Amino acid sequence: MSDAPLTLRLLSGKADEMAALQAVLEAAPTYFHTATGLPPGPAEAQSTFTALPAGKIYDDKRVWGLYGYPVHDKAVIGLLLLAEAWQRRGIGRAFALLVEQAIAVWPEIVTLRIGVVEQNVGAQAFWRKLGYVETGEVKHAEVRDVFVMEKPLARN
Ligand SMILES: CC(C)(COP(=O)(O)OP(=O)(O)OC[C@H]1O[C@@H](n2cnc3c(N)ncnc32)[C@H](O)[C@@H]1OP(=O)(O)O)[C@@H](O)C(=O)NCCC(=O)NCCS
Repeated sequence: MSDAPLTLRLLSGKADEMAALQAVLEAAPTYFHTATGLPPGPAEAQSTFTALPAGKIYDDKRVWGLYGYPVHDKAVIGLLLLAEAWQRRGIGRAFALLVEQAIAVWPEIVTLRIGVVEQNVGAQAFWRKLGYVETGEVKHAEVRDVFVMEKPLARN
């Protein structure tokens, strides 16, 4: 077992989550052969979401995913930094977009991810301007709390 931090995430059925769930189910064929006599089907993730025990409604049901790092479909931008004399001139945006284009060469990457220290409100505003959204995860680092923000990787 790796010592990567693990996170339980309530899945909402978004496309990237469904693709990840389908990939996990397809990677566990022994279970499906045992349980149904068949391999996992092409819509197994969909079925996992839609199946309901008798008398239950969707409000009664949760689908969770266990996430750990490294994951294969996310690229983490560790630190984007400009000398202070060059900040607030549009260069950070250009820098981030070039980094995103460079990351887009890796076909497996679906999501860009960053961690921003809670007190760094300027950087949070910057990343929001670039389309990153808080995931709600807060990493309790040694000195500061770190807010996680993500954005889908755009490909031309
Ligand atoms: C964060 C950083 C890379 C941003 O680069 P930058 O060149 O200053 O930002 P840009 O000028 O390209 O700004 C892009 C947009 O973000 C906004 N923005 C940038 N810094 C901001 C701040 N401190 N407060 C509010 N908005 C900010 C800009 O107003 C701009 O919005 P607009 O396009 O609507 O005008 C740079 O300020 C930096 O190196 N900071 C120190 C290191 C750091 O905190 N890195 C991030 C760690 S997660």
